[in-house]
Amino acid sequence: MEAEMTELRKLRMGMVGGGPGAFIGPVHRMAAELDGRIELVAGAFSQSAERSRAAGVGFGIDPGRAYAGYREMLEAERERPDAIDFVAIATPNHLHLPVAAAALEAGFAVVSDKPATATYAEALALEAAVAKAGLPYALTHTYAGYALVREARAVCASGQLGAIRKIAVEYLQGWLSRPLENTGQKQAAWRSDPALNGPGGCIGDIGTHAFHLVEYVTGLEVTSLNAALRTVVEGRRLDDDCNAMLRLNNGATGVLMASQVAAGEGNGLRLRVYGENGSIDWRQEDPNRLRVKWVDGPEEIRHAAGSYLSEGARAVTRLPGGHPEGYIEAFAVLYREFADGLIAWRRGEANPLPATLPGIVAGVRGMRFIERAIESSREGSWVEF
Ligand SMILES: NC(=O)c1ccc[n+]([C@@H]2O[C@H](COP(=O)([O-])OP(=O)(O)OC[C@H]3O[C@@H](n4cnc5c(N)ncnc54)[C@H](O)[C@@H]3O)[C@@H](O)[C@H]2O)c1
Repeated sequence: MEAEMTELRKLRMGMVGGGPGAFIGPVHRMAAELDGRIELVAGAFSQSAERSRAAGVGFGIDPGRAYAGYREMLEAERERPDAIDFVAIATPNHLHLPVAAAALEAGFAVVSDKPATATYAEALALEAAVAKAGLPYALTHTYAGYALVREARAVCASGQLGAIRKIAVEYLQGWLSRPLENTGQKQAAWRSDPALNGPGGCIGDIGTHAFHLVEYVTGLEVTSLNAALRTVVEGRRLDDDCNAMLRLNNGATGVLMASQVAAGEGNGLRLRVYGENGSIDWRQEDPNRLRVKWVDGPEEIRHAAGSYLSEGARAVTRLPGGHPEGYIEAFAVLYREFADGLIAWRRGEANPLPATLPGIVAGVRGMRFIERAIESSREGSWVEF
């Protein structure tokens, strides 16, 4: 994944969101800067001008580039000779489309957190904006950056498992098992508000990660689904627990379970894929191991940094075996691929972003998944994707 740097400088990032107390904004900053290709130089970090400025001081950027809002940032930056190269979006979901569309229109590439937008209709609008601008756009489905997810993808692509028949994906969290949104906890508050989050609660927040992981690892596409969404915690305005059955385009079937009321669970994302000859099993909370089981052979445990891993897995490994890499490093893989892609785009390459980096196609499919799951649950029946 090494790309030749055409300029002897780092790419400049302007961030929207990620102010004091935010969850994923700091992860974006750490991940973007991990490989020395990108530096934070500007931002609109909060909806409050004062907090945005204070955050900018804390991040050590020029105080004049800690803006009161994203529109001010885009207007001011496009006039600068040392303007930002791209915008990173780490705000609640309702701002993903307006910020991304404005950034693209101003001529800046975009890295956005998921889900791509708040609604499916917005995702189609974003897809059109990306196509019109012709600029690189990446979506940070974090789990796509893990070396052993890349290995799982390579195992599926190799055909060694035989025809894939069955998929089990689960994403179990317990942090919303009580009405946390009523306590002022800000991550819970906006996620429970349809106006800020969009119509899919748990199904949008973590169901989309599980859905993406299925298609990313297997290379298959979901063609229909039957989902049951419910709200377990009294008074909550969006779903917090989801079970879905899936059908895929090769005839395989799957089950997808996503819950934020699975009390005691942390970030329990797990994917199992079963083929005719064997299966794979990857767990996010033990990310440096991939289990591969065979009908006619012993169970294998593949370790991160193993010399026997696929080229794609080794390419995104930074440390020798036994030195655990995790969430930040996986996130940084996506930023590194984006940085390489942006440089390639500047050189005029037609398809500069690698297929391993989730982009607008994954974003639209994720939003379609939410919309279809809600529809299926409302109808109590299977729906075409
Ligand atoms: N990739 C992942 O695994 C992952 C993990 C967590 C969250 N996310 C996504 O990241 C996004 C943010 O989630 P979070 O948990 O960090 O939320 P958060 O509430 O912790 O942070 C949101 C930040 O956006 C800022 N903000 C709100 N309105 C703004 C505006 N108008 N201008 C500038 N900044 C503004 C807030 O001040 C806050 O700093 C969501 O879309 C979420 O789905 C992705």
